[in-house]
Amino acid sequence: MADAMIILGLETSCDETGLALFDSESGLLGHVLYSQAALHADYGGVVPELASRDHIRKALPLLERLLAQTQLPREKIDAVAYTSGPGLIGALLVGASLGRALAMGLGVDAVAVHHMEGHLLAPMLEAERPEFPFLALLVSGGHTMLVEVHGIGRYRILGETLDDAVGEAFDKTAKLLGLGYPGGPEVARMAARGRADRFAFPRPMLDRPGLDFSFSGLKTFALNTYQKTAGTEQDKADVARAFEDAVVDTLARKVARALQQSGLRRLVVAGGVGANRSLRHRLCTLGADAFYPRPEFCTDNGAMIAYAGLLRLQGGQKAGLAINVRPRWPLDELRPPAPVEATVR
Ligand code: KG4
Ligand code: ZN
Repeated sequence: MADAMIILGLETSCDETGLALFDSESGLLGHVLYSQAALHADYGGVVPELASRDHIRKALPLLERLLAQTQLPREKIDAVAYTSGPGLIGALLVGASLGRALAMGLGVDAVAVHHMEGHLLAPMLEAERPEFPFLALLVSGGHTMLVEVHGIGRYRILGETLDDAVGEAFDKTAKLLGLGYPGGPEVARMAARGRADRFAFPRPMLDRPGLDFSFSGLKTFALNTYQKTAGTEQDKADVARAFEDAVVDTLARKVARALQQSGLRRLVVAGGVGANRSLRHRLCTLGADAFYPRPEFCTDNGAMIAYAGLLRLQGGQKAGLAINVRPRWPLDELRPPAPVEATVR
């Protein structure tokens, strides 16, 4: 049995500053999150330099708030986990520098975490936790993946997107419909008022074998369809509905195929698009045991980073003194935790 420890998790890979304290014995002690969505809304997407600067402004006040909220003296922190990739380089550097420096100041270990491994393990923050092995559908703003998960750092990628990530397709569709940013929740809200039978959207790549995805065509289809309408609120809702139905149907059928091919019976859904209700609803009909993080832990957060960091530290892994980040970092380069710095080059 590993020693009990309290770990601070720091997430700054994109446009959310997330911090959490996780106790290996009693679980999550608390978490705080600041979303920069309003800051980037005028630009219709994340502006990297603005993101980095805002992480700098927000991270330490958020840490103070987290410590006050949990009434934990900072000396009780036994380790610091920070996201070291993949993500925006400047944003990552803020969290990595702060995490590494805090660990040094407190005289404790630091551990560098892969953002997608954080998402992948997020369902384990819930009372009903999946056991290994399981199939994971990772659907975020930057990734769309089907992964066989046999243990921490034991990942086999079964399928990926060949172009846009599914969250990205939601965001771009929102933009072309004149909806706000981030687009996923906006498209979902519109879709709820849309009619299912008005437009028929294609189901990309379902006619081909394999488990890869392609979503950029759907976004173009949405644009072409919308341009042929009068542009009323009902038109927007109907396009949003047809788009969401096509995405959900495509994802669900590929998940069904992956479950069948892998023989796995447990399904984990993680990443921001995992918060989508229609998707959750549909995936529940596939006959697998489905596990989801609570919606706030589907999108970026510090808790998943604390948890993934804890598992890696318990496996003996820790970060060296150098501050390294990897904006691009394929998930299948990860290995099980080893008592050397293996997560960053
Ligand atoms: O995991 P995440 O917070 O950040 C990345 O690592 O990318 O995912 C953000 C993505 C955005 O594209 C956002 O539009 C999408 O998740 N998203 C949704 C929903 N909530 C967030 N997409 C569809 N339906 C939602 N309810
Ligand atoms: Zn993410």
